[in-house]
Amino acid sequence: MRIVIVGSTGQLGTDLMKTFREDHELIGLTHRDIEVSNYSSCLTLKEHHPDVIIDTAAFHRTDQCEEEPGKTFLINAIGPRNITKISREIEATTIFISTDYVFDGAKNEPYNEDDAPNPINTYGISKLAGELFTKQNPKHYVIRVASLFGAAGSSGKGGNFVETMITKAKKQESISVVDDQWISPTYTRDAAKTMKKIVESQLPFGIYHATNKGFCTWFQFAKQIFSLLKLNPSLTPIKASQLQVKAQRPKFSALKSTKLLKHRLQAREWTEALSDYLAEKGYK
Ligand SMILES: NC(=O)c1ccc[n+]([C@@H]2O[C@H](COP(=O)([O-])OP(=O)(O)OC[C@H]3O[C@@H](n4cnc5c(N)ncnc54)[C@H](OP(=O)(O)O)[C@@H]3O)[C@@H](O)[C@H]2O)c1
Repeated sequence: MRIVIVGSTGQLGTDLMKTFREDHELIGLTHRDIEVSNYSSCLTLKEHHPDVIIDTAAFHRTDQCEEEPGKTFLINAIGPRNITKISREIEATTIFISTDYVFDGAKNEPYNEDDAPNPINTYGISKLAGELFTKQNPKHYVIRVASLFGAAGSSGKGGNFVETMITKAKKQESISVVDDQWISPTYTRDAAKTMKKIVESQLPFGIYHATNKGFCTWFQFAKQIFSLLKLNPSLTPIKASQLQVKAQRPKFSALKSTKLLKHRLQAREWTEALSDYLAEKGYK
């Protein structure tokens, strides 16, 4: 297949490029090559005659999204709308990367693909709008991921949680981490492999949750990082309410890959994936 990856140098984009390159003809587009919020700029997609377009571009600094709703919607909603419109015209499949933040967190157990979204912050609302635009192409996959960690680090967020924890520990800082928000940490290498299988197996179009298996709080995530690295920094659990942040976050946004489980494509446990990530980065 000819596959275009938008955001090819981002955290997930980098692993998508590495993973799909093995068996497909790939075109990676960086922010310099395309501005997703600008329809004219997106017309460049047509020149590549793709079978599949994967949109990883996002404005995802969650607190900043509250302050810049216009920019947030342009990139996270109008962007996928532009890409979907063009995909339809050239009969390509659209793949949009979405988030656990489309849920409100009130369920208190992992969300399935068919649970009703109800985002509680601007970022989540904009990504849900992106999902809805993407569905306008009958040939679409909406792939929800969460709490990503990948070797390239998130360009939009300036790294990832694992790197932040390691840096703080090495500087011998006291570390306080939220212990009442539950998430599904996900290795971008695993998410990329899952997405490749979804495309190659031609699974039915629709929404898929492609996180690693299991869930934890951010505090438990930090504990696991330090335990695997045999580091022992001063680490304190705190409540989310103790942080002064602009965006409200769901209390429980772990995802369950119910549909992938049926196809035996569920990714492995997040703890195993974390261990491999640390090895990939040369920490162990
Ligand atoms: N990171 C997470 O924990 C997380 C959790 C749930 C869902 N997601 C979703 O997963 C996807 C990938 O996340 P990631 O961590 O890989 O993000 P990332 O590292 O920030 O990558 C996003 C890529 O898109 C590019 N981009 C940003 N704005 C663009 C625009 N307006 N037009 C064209 N390209 C643009 C960025 O380029 P520049 O950096 O040069 O601007 C970057 O290469 C996003 O859709 C995000 O919403 C992420």
